[in-house]
Amino acid sequence: MRFIFTCDELSSNIMLEEFEQKDPNFKMLKWLNGGIGLAETNGNSKEYAHFIYNKPIIFIRHICKVDLVLTYYSNWKYKVISLAKNKLNRSKTFSIQLRHNTDINLDTNQILTELSTKICEQGFTLDVKNCEQVVSIFIDNQDIYCGVDSVENNLSKFKGGIPHYAENEDFVCRAEFKMKEALDVFDIDTSNLKNGVDFGSAPGGWTKVLAQTGINMVAIDPAEMDKKVLTLKNVEHKKMTIQEYFFHYNDKKFDIIVNDMKMDVQKSIQLMGKFRDKLNPNGLIIMTFKLPKNYTLNLIEKDLLFLQKEFKLITARQLFYNRSEITVVAKSL
Ligand SMILES: C[S@@+](CC[C@H](N)C(=O)[O-])C[C@H]1O[C@@H](n2cnc3c(N)ncnc32)[C@H](O)[C@@H]1O
Repeated sequence: MRFIFTCDELSSNIMLEEFEQKDPNFKMLKWLNGGIGLAETNGNSKEYAHFIYNKPIIFIRHICKVDLVLTYYSNWKYKVISLAKNKLNRSKTFSIQLRHNTDINLDTNQILTELSTKICEQGFTLDVKNCEQVVSIFIDNQDIYCGVDSVENNLSKFKGGIPHYAENEDFVCRAEFKMKEALDVFDIDTSNLKNGVDFGSAPGGWTKVLAQTGINMVAIDPAEMDKKVLTLKNVEHKKMTIQEYFFHYNDKKFDIIVNDMKMDVQKSIQLMGKFRDKLNPNGLIIMTFKLPKNYTLNLIEKDLLFLQKEFKLITARQLFYNRSEITVVAKSL
């Protein structure tokens, strides 16, 4: 399978190192742009998306398989429409994600409208925000890479793995986008989660996002929480450190623990380990690993092994809104 992948440009080298270590069939073909590459491997995109999620390959953001390579001057739009017609599932919604690296003055909106109108005329349903399948197009000067796949196989529903969340009137801080992105990208179902605890919750972005899904949140941080978050009925702020909380309150059980504390990763995991019996069976953990300067893959792997003494690792990824950190998802053993 040939595919286009994206990662943070600054993480390109570590991402290639990861692929080389974890997938012996991975072959880098070329860079298309900063943090966007073309590569090849064995297997199909569904298997590969599972492999990336479970292994996990951390520094990748998004992939899209390439079904066809066209040239810009051929009747490329006609060929894209015919590929879509053959590969899209009629009972599922679709959208088109178009990217390019050319200096040619491309009217991408006009191209998208033209292509989606023609595809809809064939009886397919467009849903730009929450599509189930994606027609991916990357225009690389004269070459056009095109593929059709289900959104899960692309690792993220966002074009190139880059979400664009709006700062609404209840905006608290950019950290809330990290939590939103984690819930979106890892497709986390919060509907069965009743009680949650947020380690290092101030100013309250994560607590707000989780409380808004209906979870009763205990927010623990010696720092002040934003007033907008404190007015939510299902938020209780304990203005203290985790260590103090554990000393004073030891009775409550949780369905989810989230942890964004600025702290040495292993120390942070150790503190969460003390909460292990406070996590209900199948309870979920979402935490960030703050990466030290000059971090290596080896160091991250060690931290992940350390986490696995206390919890079952589900996946880990450097999300778009992560800065010098990765987001890790785990559950109770
Ligand atoms: C990056 S901020 C968290 C941002 C938060 N996730 C949000 O969405 O607003 C890190 C927080 O960890 C808190 N913190 C650091 N050590 C802590 C500890 N031992 N117990 C509780 N909070 C701690 C800091 O006070 C700081 O507010």
